[in-house]
Amino acid sequence: MKVIQVDDYNDLGKKAAEIIIQYIKGHANAVLGLATGSTPKTTYKELIRDHNENGTSYRHIRTVNLDEYVGLDQNDPNSYHYFMKKEFFDFVDIPENNIHIPNGMAENIYDECKDYDRLIEGLGGVDLQLLGIGRNGHIGFNEPGTSFDTMTHIVDLTMDTRKANARFFNGLDEVPTQAITMGIKNILMSKSILLLASGRQKAEAMAHLLNEKEVTSAFPASALHHHQNVTVIADKEALSLVYSLERRA
Ligand code: F6R
Repeated sequence: MKVIQVDDYNDLGKKAAEIIIQYIKGHANAVLGLATGSTPKTTYKELIRDHNENGTSYRHIRTVNLDEYVGLDQNDPNSYHYFMKKEFFDFVDIPENNIHIPNGMAENIYDECKDYDRLIEGLGGVDLQLLGIGRNGHIGFNEPGTSFDTMTHIVDLTMDTRKANARFFNGLDEVPTQAITMGIKNILMSKSILLLASGRQKAEAMAHLLNEKEVTSAFPASALHHHQNVTVIADKEALSLVYSLERRA
C-alpha cells in the first residue's frame, strides 16, 4: 500500500486527478470505478478543470459507481445519480450510455445486484477504483462485519453512517435505511485502487488502516491490505494519527 501525503483537501483533489488523468492518457477506454460523498469533490473539480483546459476526453471511458441509496429516484437531489451528474458527468464529454450506477428504484433490488455484477464483468472489470472511507472504516457501503467475499448486495445502513450522511438531507428521518453497494470482493477485483481521505474526522480510520496490520471484517477497509495495487492519498489532518508514513509507503 503506497501512501501519498498532501497538504489539504484541495491538494488531495489535484493529486488524485493527476493520477486519474495519467491513467486515462494511457487507457482511453478505461473502466473507472467512482465514488460519491464529500471526499472526491475536489478530484472531480480538478478533472473538469483539466477537461476544459487540456481537453482530456471521456468519450470512450466507461464508469461504474460504487453505490446508490435504495428508494431514491435518479432525479432526487440526494441520489448518487444526481450527485454524479452535478459534480462530474454534466461537465465532461462522457456519453450517457457509458455511465453505470446501481438503480435504487429497481423493481427487484436483488436482481439489480446480480445484473450489476454481470455488467461490471461484461465491461472487463474495473481498471481504477476511486474510494472514500467511512469513519468506521466502511468502503462503498460495506459496513463493519461485511464478509470480504461479498459482491454487489443490499445493505442496511448503520446509524453512524446515516447520521454522517444526514447533513445532505432535511434530517435523519429522510436518510434511506438501505443501499445497493458493490461488495468488498468487487472492490478487490479492481486492477488498481485509489483511496482518498481528508480531514481530522478521518484520522482514526486512517490510523486503524495504516498503523495496524490486522485484516478484519470489523474494519472493512483493512481488506485493501490484500490488494497489490492500492494508493492512499490523504491530507495531513487525515494522517495526523499515523505513526510512520515511510514504513507504510
Ligand atoms: C460513497 C461511498 C462511501 C464514502 C464514505 C466517505 O460512494 O461509497 O463509502 O466514500 O462514506 O464519505 P465522505 O467522502 O462524504 O466522507
